[in-house]
Amino acid sequence: MPTLDIQPNVTLDSSLPPHSATAAANANIALIKYWGKRDENLILPYTSSLSLTLSDLYTQTAVSFEDDLEQDTVTLDGEQLSSAGTTFRRVVGMLDLVREKAGIATKARVVSHNHVPTAAGLASSASGFAALASAASYAAGLRLNSRELSRLARRGSGSASRSIFGGLALWYAGDDDETSYAEQIVAPEDSNLAMIVVTLDERKKPVSSREAMRRTVETSPAYMPWVEQSKRDLAEALEAIRVADIEKLGEIVERNALGMHETMHKAAPPVNYFTDKTYAVLNAVKDMRECGWPVWATMDAGPNVKVLTVGDEVDRVMEELRGRVEGELRGRVEGDAAGVTDAAGDSRNLQYEQTKFTVALPGDGVTIHTSLE
Ligand code: DP6
Repeated sequence: MPTLDIQPNVTLDSSLPPHSATAAANANIALIKYWGKRDENLILPYTSSLSLTLSDLYTQTAVSFEDDLEQDTVTLDGEQLSSAGTTFRRVVGMLDLVREKAGIATKARVVSHNHVPTAAGLASSASGFAALASAASYAAGLRLNSRELSRLARRGSGSASRSIFGGLALWYAGDDDETSYAEQIVAPEDSNLAMIVVTLDERKKPVSSREAMRRTVETSPAYMPWVEQSKRDLAEALEAIRVADIEKLGEIVERNALGMHETMHKAAPPVNYFTDKTYAVLNAVKDMRECGWPVWATMDAGPNVKVLTVGDEVDRVMEELRGRVEGELRGRVEGDAAGVTDAAGDSRNLQYEQTKFTVALPGDGVTIHTSLE
């Protein structure tokens, strides 16, 4: 499939102070998953992956390199991060890569806002590191093209390599730093796809995707067979996209994600992100499909379910899905309550009301505003 040569959307902004830039990057959801690194330091994956960038779920990040700063400072959603935390260290890791490339030693101020629920399996690290890599490199005076930005974002979080691009993005596994990058294969306006994000739990997940991925590669006998299957899945998915066969694409997307979760279930110790509510949503999706609705489920490192559907049918699909999921959850709660009464009884009856449904249409690639120097 021909790829599109897309360059970042950069605006020179005279109102910004020198050595500063802001960037906004959308989240993406993988249709064919990235799961497992063969090089932890460079973040080189075992398999290529394919994703849909989503509009309106994004991270906005401002970076300025300032001579009078003694330390890097990072503020995320209004809270200054402690220099002992993992997120701070990962952000500074990205700043260090940028400083090395630009040949500077100046410390930076980073201010970031997530418009994606953090750490709920909704890929905030993808939009986060795509925005950070873009803002930091432009603030440092580097004028990277999209491929170079994708490679840089990858060093922060693998899935971030894809969030540089809008629409459908393909991340080539490659075999070294230079050959592992993403490209856009279908523009957002040309992909008649949409996702419905069913958020069941916004709490931070107990096992990070990074740890779960490592454990799977090291201990799961199901991992290498999934790697081989995923390569076939990607080839078939690309062909389904080429001939606009969404039924076929949906089938592959769902089996690829469920296969990835099986690899985790067989890790030692196992990692299981499924909850009762997850099963309820998966059942509702399956039942809808049996009634002819175009819906397929995918999941990442968390209990939430994303439902792939056809772009111009998304509103009626969403209404039907909401009704069915709420019915499933209510049924389960009533079923539970018949057998058990416990202190949590009250809150259980409210479970279905806390479920959130978000329609996400295909979104654009990263946008950057930078100072004039
Ligand atoms: C399940 O990109 O968050 O969402 O490279 O360790 O930062 P690191 O992992 P990350 O993993 C995403 C995994 C996934 C599947 C996907 O997005 O392809």
